[in-house]
This record gives sequence, C-alpha cells and structure tokens, in this order.
Amino acid sequence: MKRMTLIMFLVLVAGCASTPTPIPDPGSAGARVFKERCSGCHALAHPKRLGYNEWERKLELMERRMEQRRMPPLTPEERRAILGYLRKYSR
Ligand code: HEC
Repeated sequence: MKRMTLIMFLVLVAGCASTPTPIPDPGSAGARVFKERCSGCHALAHPKRLGYNEWERKLELMERRMEQRRMPPLTPEERRAILGYLRKYSR
C-alpha cells in the first residue's frame, strides 16, 4: 500500500511539472472548465497572455476551431465559466 502512495505522489509531481506556469486559482469551477475545454489541442494558455477583450475574440476563434475538428461546442454555461475566469485573471 505504501508503494502505491509513492507512485501516486510521483504521478502528481510529474503532472505538475508538465505545466510550467500554473494557472491562478486552479481549483475554481471556472479554471476547471478552462482546463477541460482549452487544453485538448494545445498546451493550456495562461490567462495573463491576453487582455479580456482579446480573450473574447480568441474564444470565438477557438470555438470555430472546435467546430472544424467536430468537437462538441461550448455550452452557454461553459462559455460563461471560461469568460468569467478569464475576466478575473486576464492582464
Ligand atoms: C479544436 C482544437 C482547439 C481547441 C479545443 C482550442 N484551441 Fe486554441 N488554438 C487552436 C489552434 C489550431 C490554434 C492556432 C491558431 C489558429 O489556427 O487559430 C490555437 C491557438 C490558440 C491561442 C494562441 C496561441 C498563442 O501562442 O498566442 C490561444 C491563446 C488559444 N488557442 C486559446 C484557447 C482557449 C482559451 C481554448 C478554450 C476555449 C482553446 N484555445 C481551445 C486549436 C484549439
């Protein structure tokens, strides 16, 4: 059982190491939707990368990319959660 705990610890540490700059407030509902929907095609962008207005435009573009890849579109709730999160932590 101890061995299992060690393995799980290593998996967690390795998982963190692959995200160079951790995103703010990662446990929040908005951050979870952001991670889930925005890291499928590329590494997750940091909210500070863009200003809020730029994020609004980028999100539209990303929704088009999802459509092109026949991925399920963002639901209105997901869209709201992502934009709310980005509004709070954009630069
Ligand atoms: C269907 C695949 C896909 C998904 C899902 C996706 N993206 Fe993208 N993203 C792309 C592609 C492809 C590009 C490259 C630029 C382009 O073609 O529009 C990109 C580029 C970006 C860029 C610009 C990268 C840079 O270095 O400036 C940002 C920021 C971004 N995406 C954010 C997001 C966010 C936020 C989400 C979640 C809402 C998201 N992406 C979800 C495909 C995707």
